[in-house]
Amino acid sequence: MTSPYYQDENVTLYCGDCLEHPEWWTGADVLVTDPPYGIKWTTHGVSRTSFGDRNKCDFNGTQRDVQSIANDTDTSARDHALALWGDRPAIMFGSLFKPPPRDVRHIGIYVKPLDGGALSAFGKLRRDCEAIYFLGHGEQWGRQVKTGRGALPKDQRPPTEMRSSIFGTRVRFLGTPAGLSAQCGHPHAKPGDVLEALIALCPTGVIADPFAGSGSTLVAAKLLGRKAVGVELEERYCEVAARRLSQGVLDFGEWSA
Ligand SMILES: C[S@@+](CC[C@H](N)C(=O)[O-])C[C@H]1O[C@@H](n2cnc3c(N)ncnc32)[C@H](O)[C@@H]1O
Repeated sequence: MTSPYYQDENVTLYCGDCLEHPEWWTGADVLVTDPPYGIKWTTHGVSRTSFGDRNKCDFNGTQRDVQSIANDTDTSARDHALALWGDRPAIMFGSLFKPPPRDVRHIGIYVKPLDGGALSAFGKLRRDCEAIYFLGHGEQWGRQVKTGRGALPKDQRPPTEMRSSIFGTRVRFLGTPAGLSAQCGHPHAKPGDVLEALIALCPTGVIADPFAGSGSTLVAAKLLGRKAVGVELEERYCEVAARRLSQGVLDFGEWSA
């Protein structure tokens, strides 16, 4: 068995293909992941020089930087990973423009930082919302409250332990030089506060993120004292994740960007 790229008392990270190595991560208890969305994402020639490796190409006659996400041509990596995972509890980010995974139990909304989605805006509307899918059978997410009239007695307020399914972030910027993406070293980095809120909802046990990127899920799990295992295909992102994990509570991707 290949040895981990990074390991501490809470977190293990492997560098490689999660679909070829289910033994690395499918033994965990809860899946919290941000897979390739299947949107053929690139930076479309927008220069973001603070990211890692990049290819140079001509875009309208100008030399610009182009980046892409591995296996992002369609949703097959996501669907393959879910097939390996089965119907155990899972939380998964995704594009609202692509078909959801099978057997979704609930959909939350992630609202990006203030500049999120500006490059792909629809007229004056930023594309700043993404889906957060909740999957898995049984009552791992808690007992389902009955819907419809009369479910709650008139004098009873909604239970205070419930929260909105909309997940905003205190991180202010995504794509600026001081923003989340540049600071975390990954163009699709997710904010630590959103991940912490999601992990807090999870059933107990080890968290798996087989599409770990810069390690945001693993960092959030570690900050919450949860055990976690991650896999990332690209070594440059494993390097970033390992650095973030060794920094512990001082991680920059939490609230500051
Ligand atoms: C949307 S990004 C995750 C970003 C991450 N949430 C963060 O905050 O940095 C998806 C990641 O999955 C990785 N990936 C794609 N296919 C993979 C595979 N088969 N095995 C492991 N990682 C893969 C990509 O390299 C990319 O870094």
